[in-house]
Amino acid sequence: MKPIYVLNGPNLNMLGQREPSVYGAETLPEIEKLCRAKAAELGLTVDFRQSNIEGELVSWIQEARSKAAGIALNAGAYTHTSVAIHDALRAADVPAVEVHLSNVYKREAFRHHSFIAAAVNGVICGFGSHSYVLALEALASLINTNKKG
Ligand code: DQA
Repeated sequence: MKPIYVLNGPNLNMLGQREPSVYGAETLPEIEKLCRAKAAELGLTVDFRQSNIEGELVSWIQEARSKAAGIALNAGAYTHTSVAIHDALRAADVPAVEVHLSNVYKREAFRHHSFIAAAVNGVICGFGSHSYVLALEALASLINTNKKG
């Protein structure tokens, strides 16, 4: 079984220290642990990565086409700017979910538009680290439906 790629964009390596009132106190390694536990429960595995570099995220999404069963992507600020990530997701051809810790719609207007949303199966935001758990559940269900269909 191929892993789920859980991909994290810029500044998410700073979780725990970065605006805890917005993003919570958990660190990215703690979120990785949470994802591994949830994936095991769902009979999945995860390949968990973070990059501050847009092109690296694009390359990982391209790689996912042949190496991953699905993608959970928190693209951080690139969500609101990146046509390149949008295009990579459209070409990836595996189930994909956009994830955010914060409820971006309750925040500044520039966070209300996502270039990612139109290129993925669905969006989960606003549940803190539990957003990642919900994304894995959604992907498990999409992967099972694809198998049946
Ligand atoms: C974020 C929301 C983005 O607007 C922001 O730039 C981030 C984190 C989130 O997880 O809530 O870096 O993706």
